[in-house]
Amino acid sequence: MSDIATGTRSGRAGLRNAGLFFRRWLANPLQMGSVVPSSPALCRRIAALVRRAEDEVVVELGAGTGVISRAVLEAGVPAHRLVVVEIVPDMADHLRGALPGVNVIRGDAFELPDALPRALHGRVGTVICGIPLVLLPLARQRRFVDAVETVAPGRGFLLYTYCVTSPLPRRRLGLAARREAWTPLNLPPASVWHYRPQR
Ligand SMILES: C[S@@+](CC[C@H](N)C(=O)[O-])C[C@H]1O[C@@H](n2cnc3c(N)ncnc32)[C@H](O)[C@@H]1O
Repeated sequence: MSDIATGTRSGRAGLRNAGLFFRRWLANPLQMGSVVPSSPALCRRIAALVRRAEDEVVVELGAGTGVISRAVLEAGVPAHRLVVVEIVPDMADHLRGALPGVNVIRGDAFELPDALPRALHGRVGTVICGIPLVLLPLARQRRFVDAVETVAPGRGFLLYTYCVTSPLPRRRLGLAARREAWTPLNLPPASVWHYRPQR
């Protein structure tokens, strides 16, 4: 099984993930933003960028099949310090089964301040975003940035994308942006950007 687009190292789990993902893509392509799950190479690059203090959590928004969540766990984040938010009920159910011990929230990332338990506000080390923000109007993008800022002040978020240049209009959103990683071993090749509020 190739490193590209299998979803996990296990062939059968990878095929199951690919099937689930493809069905969701058929149902709502704009919500999914891709036809296949993130590749192991992309997942590893994102996991390597995760930062958190001992008492902080990692929050993944739009976790899909959970392949990035799994890479984050494999990189050493304890399951009880990972929170994933997924809007599609089927996928949230899948994540609960696939990620024991992880806090899976069936909810809308744009309503993150309500979806995330209040006790975790201000205790978020890294936010990872899988939602295809590039396709959204500026007002929606702004709402997303504000939602993240409310729960993780100053931390910003990691966004993976197939765009060659910044997928977000950073100046108009008041963000500083840095491309932290790129991998050709994804279908299509992907970059990881870190956006933070501009000081
Ligand atoms: C590109 S896919 C995630 C890919 C994931 N890394 C994988 O390989 O399975 C985007 C995910 O974001 C979810 N999503 C889209 N809009 C969302 C929202 N407003 N809140 C939470 N999740 C959302 C979709 O249902 C989908 O599972």
